[in-house]
Amino acid sequence: MTATWVRLGAVGSTNDAARRLIAEGAADGTVVTATEQTAGRGRRGNTWASPPGNLYLSAILRPAAPASVLGQLGFVAAVALAETLAPLLGAGHTVALKWPNDVLVDDRKIAGILLECETAGATVRWVIVGIGVNVANGPAVARVPATTLAALEIAITPEALAVGLIDALFAWRSVWQCDGFAPIRAAWLARAIGVGAIIRVNLERDSFEARFAALDDSGALVAELPGGARRLVAAGDVHLLGAA
Ligand code: BTN
Repeated sequence: MTATWVRLGAVGSTNDAARRLIAEGAADGTVVTATEQTAGRGRRGNTWASPPGNLYLSAILRPAAPASVLGQLGFVAAVALAETLAPLLGAGHTVALKWPNDVLVDDRKIAGILLECETAGATVRWVIVGIGVNVANGPAVARVPATTLAALEIAITPEALAVGLIDALFAWRSVWQCDGFAPIRAAWLARAIGVGAIIRVNLERDSFEARFAALDDSGALVAELPGGARRLVAAGDVHLLGAA
């Protein structure tokens, strides 16, 4: 599909710019990018440092799918991003995916994905897939080890990166729409780190240690507790504690 691409200068957040476009009736497949964000946001209420030089992109989707599966679009975006970054990396560098939606190079976070949506009951009105990639700059204060494409000596502009990412994003979104989550799950697992490892799972009001036993058919993390009981985690954060 051909995306409508709206290129902006400095904005608060491209996700907010996308919301405004939605209010004006923007179609499925509209993409907005900005040169910088003054109020970039990350998952779980975190800020996302957004100086000039990085990629800030939000894609508007209006998927024909029930609200219950929308979280899978985070995996769609992560797989698309990994596929876009992998050919840019020199020998000896590895792109990996960490549950739920982090993209790492050489075990350092290089990109983040933030999904926002509006639903009406089981019906999806819209989804915004917000993607930030550290092209030139990493966060001044990093909550987790971070890297940038510049630090990896990859010379690419945010604009050129966006071209490849938009293609990959909509290609994988079509796979998801036509064939469901199974091929996305397989592609995600092929690059996943942490499956089988001891992890700390941080939820909104709870935190526990477990083994990352599996990724289930919906995208939820199957956590195996010390006694052997299993707990499904649909949303949260994961820290790797021990090797797989
Ligand atoms: C994370 O916490 O890992 C997710 C970060 C998502 C950042 C992107 S940058 C483009 C879009 N606009 C935002 O304000 N956030 C997302």
